[in-house]
Amino acid sequence: MIIARTLEELKTARETLGEVNFVPTMGALHEGHLTLVRAARAAGLPVAVSIFVNPTQFGPKEDLSRYPRDEAGDLAKLDQAGCALVWLPRVDTMYPPHASTSVHVANVTARWEGATRPGHFDGVATVVAKLFGQIRPQAAFFGEKDWQQVQVVQRMATDLHLPVKIIPVPTVREADGLALSSRNAYLSAAERKTAPALHAALKEAAQAILAGKEVAATLHKTRQQLAEAGLTPDYVALVHAHTLEPLAGFKAPARLIAAAKLGTVRLLDNLAVGP
Ligand code: PAJ
Repeated sequence: MIIARTLEELKTARETLGEVNFVPTMGALHEGHLTLVRAARAAGLPVAVSIFVNPTQFGPKEDLSRYPRDEAGDLAKLDQAGCALVWLPRVDTMYPPHASTSVHVANVTARWEGATRPGHFDGVATVVAKLFGQIRPQAAFFGEKDWQQVQVVQRMATDLHLPVKIIPVPTVREADGLALSSRNAYLSAAERKTAPALHAALKEAAQAILAGKEVAATLHKTRQQLAEAGLTPDYVALVHAHTLEPLAGFKAPARLIAAAKLGTVRLLDNLAVGP
């Protein structure tokens, strides 16, 4: 496994490897990330993984400084997973002082995570565009766990005619349904027991909507269930799977998306409704 920390080292590594598939991450790797790496490998090319805690996608009151970091552990896991190249850029490599360009994706960013976290998706789109320029992958793999993020990246790649295929990978969950996330490490033991209520509530809502129950009433009930379980719902919505616009009635392709606070942790989850 090649480890590159400078653009010079990355250039040499890219010349050695030829075509690659790519998995961008912020580190603190878990089975969700490693599933993306395995999917990228199974697609038939050597895999490049980036680890970069991107400051521009964190708001001023968010957890940038306490975001979990474990470089040695991450490298061991990536080696084990058969990763060919790890790209570990410094902040001033990604954002040199004279840099003046950022990427803003409109519409699909307007609601949900985009509304709750102003500037977040500009940070994501900008860093992903830079990483695509540096790595020049054939395909890039993103987790459905961050459903809106995948749609933002797909929109950007399409709009900018970037020659990269965006591949979504299903969410990896704990046995009790909780979606794996680096931020789950912040949950207390009691909160960890409550957390699966989010997935359970979404599953029930998806079944109800498919069975023909009214959408608004179902979403209202889901919010109530979350509150009763001890979660503070931020949003629970039925949306068009790709534009993220709310749907008043069920129509494929649809996705149920939700964010809820549990203590200091914001949990995200989503589920397909129908085919
Ligand atoms: P990070 O949160 O580290 O996630 C890296 C990738 O792993 C993302 O595509 C995310 O959706 C995926 N992932 C996380 N948990 C998952 C799970 N339980 N199942 C499947 N996939 C999962 O997302 C980011 O980093 C950043 O925004 C990034 C795209 C790297 C840009 O900075």
